[in-house]
Amino acid sequence: MKGSRGWRQWMLALVFPGLIIARPASSSLGATSISYYPQATMAADKALPVLANVDDPSAVDAQDVCPGYKATNVQTTEDGLTADLVLAGEACNAYGIDIPALNLMVEYQADSRLHVQILPSVLTAANASYYTLSPDLVLEGLLEPGSHAHKELSFQWSNEPSFSFNVTRVSNGDVLFSTTGSQLVYENQFLEIVTSLPAEYNLYGLGEVIHSLRLGNNLTRTLWAANAGNTIDINTYGSHPIYMETRYDTAHGENRSHSHGVFLRNAHGQDVLLREEKLTWRALGGSLDLYFFSGPSPVEVIQQYQVVVGLPAMQRYHTLGLHQCRWGYANWSVVQEVIDNYARFNIPLENMWNDIDYMAFYRDFDNDPVRFGYSEGRKLIDSLHANGQYYIPIVDPGIYVPNPFNASDAYEPFTRGNESNAFLSNPDGSLFIGAVWPGYTAFPDWLDSSAREWWAYELQAWHDKLPWDGSWLDMSEAASDCAGSCGSGNLHLQPIITQTGLPGSAGNLVLEYPEEFNLTNATEAAVAASQSASELAAESATATASTSTSTTYVQSTPNVVRDVEYPPYVINNGHGALSEGAIATNATHHDGTLEYDIHNLFGLGEAQTTYFAHLAMEPNRRPFLITRSTFAGSGRYTGHWGGDNNSRWGSMWFAIPQALSFQLFGIPMFGVDTCGFMGNTDEELCNRWMQLSAFFPFYRNHNVLGAIPQEPYNWASVIEATITAQKVRFALLPYLYTLLYQAHATGSPVMRALAWNFPNDPRLADADTQFFLGDAILVIPVLEVGVSTVDGVFPGLVEGTDLYYDWYSQSKVDVPSTWNITISAPLGHIPVYIHGGNVLAVQDYAMTTRAARQTPWSIIVALDINQTAEGYLYLDDGESLVGDTKSVYFTADKSSLSVSVEGDFIDSNGLDTITILGLDSVPDGSVRVDGHIQDANITWNDTNNAAVIGVSLESAFQSSWTITWD
Ligand code: NOJ
Repeated sequence: MKGSRGWRQWMLALVFPGLIIARPASSSLGATSISYYPQATMAADKALPVLANVDDPSAVDAQDVCPGYKATNVQTTEDGLTADLVLAGEACNAYGIDIPALNLMVEYQADSRLHVQILPSVLTAANASYYTLSPDLVLEGLLEPGSHAHKELSFQWSNEPSFSFNVTRVSNGDVLFSTTGSQLVYENQFLEIVTSLPAEYNLYGLGEVIHSLRLGNNLTRTLWAANAGNTIDINTYGSHPIYMETRYDTAHGENRSHSHGVFLRNAHGQDVLLREEKLTWRALGGSLDLYFFSGPSPVEVIQQYQVVVGLPAMQRYHTLGLHQCRWGYANWSVVQEVIDNYARFNIPLENMWNDIDYMAFYRDFDNDPVRFGYSEGRKLIDSLHANGQYYIPIVDPGIYVPNPFNASDAYEPFTRGNESNAFLSNPDGSLFIGAVWPGYTAFPDWLDSSAREWWAYELQAWHDKLPWDGSWLDMSEAASDCAGSCGSGNLHLQPIITQTGLPGSAGNLVLEYPEEFNLTNATEAAVAASQSASELAAESATATASTSTSTTYVQSTPNVVRDVEYPPYVINNGHGALSEGAIATNATHHDGTLEYDIHNLFGLGEAQTTYFAHLAMEPNRRPFLITRSTFAGSGRYTGHWGGDNNSRWGSMWFAIPQALSFQLFGIPMFGVDTCGFMGNTDEELCNRWMQLSAFFPFYRNHNVLGAIPQEPYNWASVIEATITAQKVRFALLPYLYTLLYQAHATGSPVMRALAWNFPNDPRLADADTQFFLGDAILVIPVLEVGVSTVDGVFPGLVEGTDLYYDWYSQSKVDVPSTWNITISAPLGHIPVYIHGGNVLAVQDYAMTTRAARQTPWSIIVALDINQTAEGYLYLDDGESLVGDTKSVYFTADKSSLSVSVEGDFIDSNGLDTITILGLDSVPDGSVRVDGHIQDANITWNDTNNAAVIGVSLESAFQSSWTITWD
């Protein structure tokens, strides 16, 4: 909590670059005092302090006091059952007012999916939004046609001593979810359901929180979208109420596992308490709308989940190229310089980004006319486009509200939005006004068509001036740096931003360096040392202050009229009160819905609106969006970046579990701020990180305002490392694109935990320092400072069931005598392996993906222990929403490769070589294509048992063919 508050104060100092010395607004900061320290002019009240229930020793445990329910009127239906649930005793009103009568609906929706929904039996127009979620925003699972005769999940219930239920796996009788022995608590501001779990359970998901992949057995996960940076174990940007559990069965001498998933379709603030042998799920409202997925493999669970929440959008091909961003590119010349530097150092750059620096006074849809004028910008973007490169600017949801007493402060996007009633209001109908970068700001009501139309209009009008290629949706929690409608009555203080200093000029900020930064520069060393000393002093002062003063916490009591600002149950929100650092929970949508009920959906609403706004502009071009706050189903519209991480080694490591979790959440287009956002990076960290991120779907270098530059060309070794890794990435682009297509078509994860590809090996349950791309590529990155080796595991290798080939040498990895292998990984080398059994179609390295897509194909056949392999390649134009596609299927053995082609998309690139890895014997005979002897050149490499067949086919994938060799 301390960390996130410090960050916001730091941001304020940065964004008010003139460090305005001002008389604070009378309402909040003291009427008479004059500040002589950096101080914003805005009135920025903070919310009152609250004590999280999980930290409160005197908190009532609802399980001790609540009566639970009894089921009556149980009816069997065609697809399950329905029942009434009535309160089984006197209301406990633990953290809300008990709802006396509920409806239970159990539906076997598919063989692998069970839906259990419990709703209040009386739902009115006035309270529907307290309990239900609109499927327009959050999809719901639909009954699949068919008898479901082979259903794998079964529901049993009991009324003894009160209503409880179990969900069981049919094939082995395992109880996956059991509320037996606990009470169901269903109140107007509090829901609680408890399930027992096996000892030492393996649970994954429940984000977004920075944590290792496997969740511990003593942890509280809180779901409340927060602008909290990458603080470990604190709720941050997104909310994903889904978990996957893997159970290993070693009973019969043979390892096996079964995984299942549980999704609570509920967008309210939540605490999920993971405790010894049980999980307690608490929410501040909404309904118990549970989906169970039977798996049994982890990948199947992930796929089954996405059938309910929606499959991810298909990405454009160029978005797989490198993205360069930073906060602090001061004008178009600086942007051009970055583009030129990439070219000068021969590093492929595909997508150039701008942060809020481009805006006039940090206002959306409005470029600064001097530093980021439109005609200069258009030229820059035109030249990017001509070169096969793209441009993506940031957009924030906070819309500047001009000073009504100053006509020259007019801001048309606001005026238009206000006139069309596009913004959230206060409960009394007046405009809700929070505070973000530009000062006091209004926020769109994504539920309302007026806001959606206005947003689309503004994007289009701005796009007409500057033909950008995508939207970076920041602050979408939605962040607001004051409590409540702080701008109401204060608009005379606008404009808050004087922009006296150019963004990027916050040069006297002292930022940390990574752990073990080798200080060779005496000045830097002195600065860093004095900074640590002053930070320590500040921390100890805070610690002393917090122990020496006693805080009075706000605690409200249950009421029929809900308290949406300080609900009786206090979730463990890292920021404290619900409205701290975010739009107030009483901000009101046009249909009466309160932000309290759908706060976690703000980012989803913005992504959905922006997605359709892009489509309105360019109807057949896949929209490209990256947003910060996501919810279940956001992947349908957007990718996600990991937010404000640190330029620290630990942050680089956390990028892997975060990325894997987002695969589970159905948002495969994920990447992090490479080289680190907060603080200064250094050469070694940036070197390792540019290589690691080259294996994430979204590959972007991004940096905070004021930190040292960290584009790869700033260090010779990082240039080399980036090019080395990009060479591998470019070769694998067709594969990566295919994986993203498969994610889009079937929900299969692009990046995969080792345990997902090898679900029967319990030793992999918490492996998250290495990962697979699909099934074919294994990446074992270096995540530690100052080392030149890394310990890696190759699942199945030691047991003799699987083979791996080093990407660079193409040699088979020797079967080790131990589980871990120490791999040489000097700086600049990222160990990458091809998993035997896969066929990969690769293309050449180039400076852009457009150029790479015109290079000839090569095929790599990596044989498995049975001397067979297979693969799949998806092709299309990389851009259109609807158009011709092509599927290419590969099957190979030790003497043949068959290519079978379906679909009309034309790819006329020829074939250069076929490399076969892991052949037992040297091919030295003839090569035939479809039975005809082919003029081919076979080279055999003794050291790695690889045969390279040089064949020349004019169009590799225009028709099906088989090649044989002997
Ligand atoms: C917060 C975002 O997380 C960060 O990436 C961005 O640079 C700043 N906002 C400024 O826009």
